[in-house]
Amino acid sequence: NNITFDYSNSFVKEHEIDYIEPFIVTSHNLLHEYKGQGKEFTGWIDLPKDYDKEEFERIKESAEKIRKDSSIFIIIGIGGSYLGSRACIEALNHNFYNHLPRDKRTGPQIYYVGNNISSNYIADLFDVIEDKDISLNVISKSGTTTEPALAFRLFKSYMEDKYGKEKAKERIYVTTDSSKGALRKLAEKEGYNTFVIPDDVGGRYSIFTAVGLLPIAVSGINIDKLLEGAFDGMEEYSVSTLKDNICYQYAAVRNILYSKGKEIEILVNYEPNLYYLMEWWKQLYGESEGKDGKGIYPASANFTTDLHSLGQLIQDGKRNIFETTIHVESPRRDIQIKEEKDNLDGLNFLSGKSINFVNKKAFEGTLMAHTKGGVPNLVIGLPKMNEYFFGKLIYFFEKSCAISGYILGANPFNQPGVEEYKKNMFKLLGKPGY
Ligand code: PA5
Repeated sequence: NNITFDYSNSFVKEHEIDYIEPFIVTSHNLLHEYKGQGKEFTGWIDLPKDYDKEEFERIKESAEKIRKDSSIFIIIGIGGSYLGSRACIEALNHNFYNHLPRDKRTGPQIYYVGNNISSNYIADLFDVIEDKDISLNVISKSGTTTEPALAFRLFKSYMEDKYGKEKAKERIYVTTDSSKGALRKLAEKEGYNTFVIPDDVGGRYSIFTAVGLLPIAVSGINIDKLLEGAFDGMEEYSVSTLKDNICYQYAAVRNILYSKGKEIEILVNYEPNLYYLMEWWKQLYGESEGKDGKGIYPASANFTTDLHSLGQLIQDGKRNIFETTIHVESPRRDIQIKEEKDNLDGLNFLSGKSINFVNKKAFEGTLMAHTKGGVPNLVIGLPKMNEYFFGKLIYFFEKSCAISGYILGANPFNQPGVEEYKKNMFKLLGKPGY
């Protein structure tokens, strides 16, 4: 009854694991002794025990208030400032959460903005929220990122027109740095409710701070249980011996595969509501490892949907890929397949079985086929997708990403490359100083 990691279909041999172990131990020591590159951004390691308890209670209180007084909750943020909460909210809630009637939904309808600069998207969102009671949470560590800052300017003004400046204040929640950035200054000047992103926690490692916890709690998810899973992950994945640490095994195996020319990792799910978990994972690994001309390209596939598109390439294309499947053992709900008298669709061979049983056989069949096709296959197994295991899985990925980055020789905690497009954009827009 725990998260598992199986690399028996990876073509990686045990002596290769032995060869890499000393590098894993070195990376572990660098991380745990705070001596590695980017050590000033490793506050996430102990977050599941050292989180701000007073703020945690305020998060819960604010979430309760929002759940009571709002039918719409808007999350403004980009990258690490929204992907984690969205991944969790979607993975643990009803697939059609926003479409359910209020009494069947665990929280207000949730919309995301400030993660693109599409005028269509923003204008369309204004149509959806008309005549509804709204709260919004703007999240930006730097407080200066263009996409969320622009969206906040628009939605702040909308809220003030709708509620008046004073009442709007009670519905605006700001999550940002403790002292720096335009958003911090603005929040203090306007007197908004604020939450802090600790200095030593970077965006993509911030899901267990207010960045993730407030939106997650608003959707009705139990954040105590989430942190309980993260806490157990923190304990379990802190052992430096490879054979006792599946999190480090994952870091080891993907680096061995990378050194053999497997430059693309495809994270696979068989559950549509894990779509944003894949997006979160891509950001975590892509931004952490892709630098200095190195790094595995993190891709994703949603099965069985993509077996009817990408499946061809995975089975038969260039052998520069490996797959990591997130396999959830028990679904939240299952459906039995009944016998039909006429059997016109020829599906009676499945009667008495369940939909999840068929999904599982699709997984097993695909694993065999792709492995036979020469694609190394790794499997991360979860007994079920609930708060506890989600929290633990997030910690698993964060920790293995840090170790993996160190093995690769990259600083997993910076992202110098994301500045380039901004410089050009600002120059083109005539921003002073560019
Ligand atoms: O992981 C990161 O640091 C980034 O993806 C940031 O989260 C993203 O760029 C948003 O930054 P900010 O929270 O400063 O607006």
